[in-house]
Amino acid sequence: MRIFVAIELPAEIKTELGRAQTALRQTRAAVSWTKSENLHLTLRFLGEVETARLPALKRACAETAQQSAPFALGLDGLGFFPTAHKPKVIWAGLHDAAQALASLQQALQDRLAALGFPPEDKPFHPHLTFGRIKTPGGTKPLAECVAAYVLPPLPFAVTELVLLQSQLRAGGSLYTPLLRAPLG
Ligand code: 2AM
Repeated sequence: MRIFVAIELPAEIKTELGRAQTALRQTRAAVSWTKSENLHLTLRFLGEVETARLPALKRACAETAQQSAPFALGLDGLGFFPTAHKPKVIWAGLHDAAQALASLQQALQDRLAALGFPPEDKPFHPHLTFGRIKTPGGTKPLAECVAAYVLPPLPFAVTELVLLQSQLRAGGSLYTPLLRAPLG
């Protein structure tokens, strides 16, 4: 099954991102918008994993979470991957004042590496993907709207890690929690 580890978002953060989506939709850019219930922060995407490896994976998530104290994050502006000139993904950034998210991600990565899941070769860029550009070109109004949009720097508490199964469906991915691992 297709697996990843994520942090879920409180309802008020999803609502705020939904407001941003509504504003950006006005540009009529060809974007596939992430459904608000699907908004999350990915810590580690593992891809296809054999079911037999699930128990060890769950233990690794639970132990990593237990050894990390809860912490605060904040919303931190909107941006594009890879660039505003050739955008493919629209995201909201995260403010990680105490570098707690980066430490948690590193701890998870180290524990998963010990289980034989090789570390990511790319640096961790925490972000909330809320739209994917469907067709290149004609995105200037969208880029302008993103540049002008003021996302309130809402803080929120991170209290658990979630191991999720992802199933690709025509109407958007279906995410099913397999384990909720409380922090601290
Ligand atoms: P994204 O939001 O940056 O695309 C489930 O697919 C989650 O895993 C998504 O949040 C996605 O992050 C993330 N992910 C990271 N690498 C991925 C990959 N190679 N394929 C699919 N999803 C990936």
